[in-house]
Parts: sequence; C-alpha cells; structure tokens
Amino acid sequence: MARAAGLFGTPFYLYDGDALRARVAQLRTALPGVAFFYSLKANPNLSVVSRLIAAGAGAEVCSRLELETALAAGAPPDRILMVGPAKSADELARAVDLGIAAIVADSLDELEEIDALARARGTVQPVALRINPDFSATGARLSMGGRATQFGLDQPLLPDTLTALRALPGLRLAGLHVYMGTRILSPEVIAANTRQILALADEMLADGPLDFVDVGGGFGVAYHEGEVPLDLAAVAGALNPMIRAFRARHPGTRVAIELGRYMVAEAGIFVTRIRRNKRTKGEQFAICDGGSNLHAAAAGQGFMRRNFPISLHDAEGQPRAGTPERWSATGPLCTPMDVIASGIELPAPRPDDLLCLHHSGAYGPSASPTDFLGFGAPAEVIADGDRLSLASPAPRWQERLSRQQPLSAPPSAAPLVLPAPFDHPALARLDGLRALFERTGARLEEDPAACADLWQEPLVRALTTIGVPEAFNGFPLSQTPLGLSECPYPLHVAMIERLARMDASCILALQGPSLSGGAVLAMGTPDQQARFFAPWRDGPQGTFFAVTEPEVGSDASAGRTRIDTDSEGRMWLSGEKMLVGNIARSSVGLVFAHHAGSRRAALVLLEMDRLAREIQNGQLGIARLPTNGLRGADLARITMERLPIDPGMILGDGSTATLRDGFMAINGVFERNRPVVAALALGNGRGILDRLAIAGATGFADLERRHLALLHRLAGVLEDYAEGRPRAHRISQIKLQAVAFSDALAARIPARAPQALLADPLLRRKMRDARAFEYMEGTSSIHLLNAFRAFAAQVPA
Ligand SMILES: Cc1ncc(COP(=O)(O)O)c(C=O)c1O
Repeated sequence: MARAAGLFGTPFYLYDGDALRARVAQLRTALPGVAFFYSLKANPNLSVVSRLIAAGAGAEVCSRLELETALAAGAPPDRILMVGPAKSADELARAVDLGIAAIVADSLDELEEIDALARARGTVQPVALRINPDFSATGARLSMGGRATQFGLDQPLLPDTLTALRALPGLRLAGLHVYMGTRILSPEVIAANTRQILALADEMLADGPLDFVDVGGGFGVAYHEGEVPLDLAAVAGALNPMIRAFRARHPGTRVAIELGRYMVAEAGIFVTRIRRNKRTKGEQFAICDGGSNLHAAAAGQGFMRRNFPISLHDAEGQPRAGTPERWSATGPLCTPMDVIASGIELPAPRPDDLLCLHHSGAYGPSASPTDFLGFGAPAEVIADGDRLSLASPAPRWQERLSRQQPLSAPPSAAPLVLPAPFDHPALARLDGLRALFERTGARLEEDPAACADLWQEPLVRALTTIGVPEAFNGFPLSQTPLGLSECPYPLHVAMIERLARMDASCILALQGPSLSGGAVLAMGTPDQQARFFAPWRDGPQGTFFAVTEPEVGSDASAGRTRIDTDSEGRMWLSGEKMLVGNIARSSVGLVFAHHAGSRRAALVLLEMDRLAREIQNGQLGIARLPTNGLRGADLARITMERLPIDPGMILGDGSTATLRDGFMAINGVFERNRPVVAALALGNGRGILDRLAIAGATGFADLERRHLALLHRLAGVLEDYAEGRPRAHRISQIKLQAVAFSDALAARIPARAPQALLADPLLRRKMRDARAFEYMEGTSSIHLLNAFRAFAAQVPA
C-alpha cells in the first residue's frame, strides 16, 4: 500500500489480482457446471476484468464501453451477455455484429429491434428474455424483480411474447434471465430464489432446450458490523442438488449466475491520505485527500451510511498503534455529507497517514461522482503478487480541461484561454518582432547569413543568450522591455512557441548556446566553460551539439565516432555526424565520441577558429545538406578523419567520474529539447491557423481543438519540469503528437484553404516547416522507446 502510494500518489484503489483469480476458482469449485458471468458494472477496470476472464468468468455488460472492455479483457463474444433496460441502437448493432452469447431483452419492442438488425446483416442473433416474475425476492438489500420495475417482461406476458418471438427470423431464443436482487447474504434466500426461477424455467423449457437459464446472483459481501459473510459452502449445499436435478430434466441447458460485487469487492481497498486533523465542537475529524467523490458507497450512497471495514497506517504503511479514540474521516468536498467513516474507534490519526477502506473493490470509482469539485478519478493500481501496475492513471486536470474547451470560432472572435506559462504577460511583448521574423524567415530560404539581421535587434540578442551564465552574458534579459530579470525554463519554452508563430526557422537560426551549453555547464572545467561562453560578452556565437550519426540516430551509446590514442598519449578523433544545427555557421560545438579501446564516452569541444588548418587539409569537413523546410536549422554533416585533439578539448577533467555525468548531461540536454521541438511545432501550427482564420478558411475547427489540447499537455509537461520531476515518456509523447498534428494540419490545407491562400508565400513556407519537425531531435524510435520504458517501469502516464 505504502509502495503504491509512493509510486502513484494518493488517493487510489488497489486491487489484488491473486484474490480476484482465487474468487473465481472458489465459485467454480463450489458450483461445478455453473456458467459464471462477471457483471462489469461492479468494477469495469480493464485489469480487473482481464484477470476474472482469464480465470474462467464470462462477462455481463450493459454499455458499449463495458462491451469493448470485456472484449479487450479477452472475453470471447460467445461468453458475453448484454443486459440493460435502455440499450442503444449502437450497442445492439455492435452486439449483433459480434454475435454475442445473448442479448437479454426486456420487451417485445426490443426483440423486434434486434431482429431487424440481425436480418439486415443476414445473421441470427441469440437472445434471452428477462422476466419480471410473479414471485418476489425476500432478503435482498435491493430487490429488482417481483414488483413493478423498469426491468424485464411481466411473467403473464411470456406466452404471447414467445409466440411473437418465434415469428422473428433474425432471432434465436437462447436463454431465460431473472434477476431478483442484490446484496443477499443468506444462502436460504439465494436457494429460494433459485428454486422459483428454475421452476419457471421448467415451464418455458417445455418447448425445447435453451442454452442457459440465468438465475441472477446478487451474492452479497459483509461490509458492516453485525453482517455475517455469505457462506459459500452453504450456498453450494443448497444449490447443487437443485441444479443437478434441473440438468437431469434439461440436459442441454446450463445454469448461469451473474455476479459483480461478490467477485471483486473483497479484492480491493481504497487508500486515501489524511491531509489534516480538525477538532471542532467536541468532535475529531481527519480530512482526507479522497472522500465520497471517489467512494460514494462508503458515504452511504446506494445503501445505508455505515462504516466499511477500515484501518489506519503511517506513511510507511505500518498499522498505527495506540489507544483508540473516536473520530470521523471526511473527504475534500463542500458538503457535510462527505463522510467516509463516522465515529470510528482507531488510534489518533496524523497528517500523512494512510486510511484504508477494505472490501472496496466493487462499485468504487465508476459508481462515484469523481468529477464533483474537479478532483477527478483516482488512480487504480493492481497487484499481482509483489508486482504493482498502474491499471488506470488519475487523469490530469490539463487533459480534462482541454477535452471540454468550447473552441470553434477563429481566434480573432474568441481570444484563446491559454494555460500557464503560455499566458505569461511578457509573451505579448514579443509581438513587435513579427515583421522582423517574417522577413528574415523568407530570406533564410536563400541565404543562411540572413540571420545576422536578427542579431541587430537588442531584444533578440537578449533572447538568444538565455542560458549563457551571467558572468559571460553581455545581453541580459533585465535590460529588455519584457519586464523579466530571469527566464525560467517553462517560460523560455513558451517564448519559443510565441516566436514560432511568426517563424520557426528563425529561432533555429539564432546563435545561442542551444543544446551544447547545458552539457558544457554540467561537465566542463572552468577553463572550458570560459572558452565556450566568453564570446557572448560582446557578440553572437553559433554552436552545435553533434551526437546523431547517419545510421544509428541519436542513440548515443551506439555511436561509432571514436577517439584513438597512441602509446605516447596523442589522440585523434574520427567519425561522421549528421545533425540539425548550424555547424556551418558555428564557432564552437561538442562532438560525442567513444574512446576506441575502453568505449568510455567523451564529449569533445571543437573551436572552429583553432581548426582552420585541419579544415583546410580535409581532416575536418563540414557540408550543408539540402533540406525542405526549416532552412534556418541548417541540416549538416560533419566528418572527422584522424582529427588531432588534445586532452583540454575533452569535456571535464578526464576522470572517470565524469563519464556517467556525460551520459546524464546528454540525456538531460535532449530531454530539455523535446518540449522545445513540441513548442516549435505547435507555434508554427498556431501561426498557420491564425493565417487561415484571417483569410476566413473554415474546416479546421477540430485541429484548433487538437492544438489547444496539445498546448495544455505541453503545459503539463512543463509543470512537471518546474516541480523537478520530468517524465521522459510524457515529453516524448507530446513531441510525437505535436509533430503529427503539424503534419495533419499541413496535409489539410490544400483541400480546405481558400485557393488564393495557397499562393501566399508565408503560408507555404510555414507548411514546409510544418513537415520538417519530424526529423528534429531524436528519431521516432527513441520516443517510442521512452514510452515503452515508462510502461515497463510502471510510471504513471
Ligand atoms: C441485472 C444485474 N445483474 C448483475 C448485477 C450485479 O449485482 P452484484 O454486484 O450485486 O452481483 C446487477 C446489479 O444491479 C444487476 O442489476
């Protein structure tokens, strides 16, 4: 429990996979020959359902999501029943397409509807009839048959309905279904119900066998003091002779039992953390981070407000010892009804303690108002032995907000409400750079040197040198009209997004410390840092970070660039790198290589003005490669053929301690660059959408929404950074999604934009740029690998 709390945060539900499997096994042993169907309504979590299905249960489903969950969990269609009083045409059509074991119909109307669907498909759909019998259930906490309800067909209507059914060629009568009630704890009541249902079936089976008679279930679980757990052996003792006799009379017909609560309740606990204690007017409360919003049943919704079995643990999961006191546990809601345990007698709770509600595996999150006050659904975790997996993550607020943004109007009509940091007031002050960026972007297409124009602008100079240590920075941000003395990383990314609306290519052409600056700061000696950063005291300096190689991509460990050392300690660098990054205009950069013998990693600092001779005689070659889009980025190849280097060029002081740091630094550098690439792609996309909106183009509303959703997700990633917990897979995911969005947007334009706009050079350039983000920073496989690593390590999405 404490481990799950540490991994996934509170509040959460924790399910025990072994207990789920054991429960199905107990049922199958106790009641041999009975077909068990798991009612997904009790807990539709895919991980829970898949374990029950694997243990031999079929599935009873009510909605499209439950149906698809059952399938995804591995239930074959012929082990699925669909039950419910208001099935939609979509649900029925899907069930018929799959040919599930039976659709349990409640009326003749519904039978006719299913018949039409089946005939239209040329199939015959098995159906069962749900009967509301003339007898009634005693002993169920909630009775659902034998009285007026919306469920099933009244028993007296049965003969006429059967006659009508026989005339419907698209249907085959496969079963009978009676559901008397739920939360039954008495074996005698279950036996009495079953006896009456089987007698009713005897009458119906006079016409021939059915596949099954579903006698309901309703097996209960003891939650409250004074309740006695259902005695499964006693149920078996009463039911087995009855079922054996029934099978003897009707050899072709199976007895089916559908169970929700009994299969899952005791396999789950709800864990919530105590935020603070409060004593008020003589009473003691522990206020928890999750309450009835996540566990409505514990607060009495659905049945009586009485305490669930409960235990209190310290933050390490140890049971709290001490003299019991009387207190109540409440949740985060705004209502005094939000009490999940009242007047319990346990040791005094302390903030950060974990409160655990047992027997909570059924009717938990899916039967609770999880969105009330916006706290959202809890994480759900499943344990198989010692192994914990995140079965369902707690959705982040960003995704929930972005799903419901009512955004269809062009931005000029309805100003976008952007998430922080994209709403920072300083960003609007960048708008004055638009003309310069658009003009320079156009010139960069032909002339890489055009980026010098950008440097003429003082604000651009200050933006370019973000990341240069103060001691070397001649162009501090504090001297600009932005009103900023520093630029935290999330705001830096937001600035890049804003500028990319104007021209993404210009940003890539700017001569800042870019990727290599971070590595030099992390690993370089003071002398190397000075050599790298000093030029920014009074002018621009282009830099490059050469890791990527033509055949191995940016997987640093697989690189072939190597450093050879001879017996006298002389060193040479050989290899080939291909990268986005202005090498041709750079005065300094880093090359990632391995020492030939030891495979130790190293970053080699190349200062171009010291290497003129080597360039001249071909030991160092730099070639610009043709690109289509993002011309300012300058795709280039750098080749080194026994380029002489000295120890002072190898980053760090040469000790082995820096080796690990080297890898860490590279990872960190790439990691920080991924949100930047996403910001470039999204900014460029925004620029395109704005231009389309100005021209009155329609047909892009879905992409507007997608754009905003992605911006929210990027904001979430940046928040992770700001809180010091970057998550590689989330970053990779947003980078891939932003690139895919960019592609989709560019692809839509030829079909949907006004013709005149297609000739607009600015839009055309942005469209070309939109397609070029794919090759920036890490191949897709690296991002997929990140996603896989996170999956294997069970890191929340
Ligand atoms: C038709 C039907 N089947 C199955 C169930 C599951 O009940 P339980 O979780 O008590 O087993 C219900 C509960 O309402 C139901 O109405």
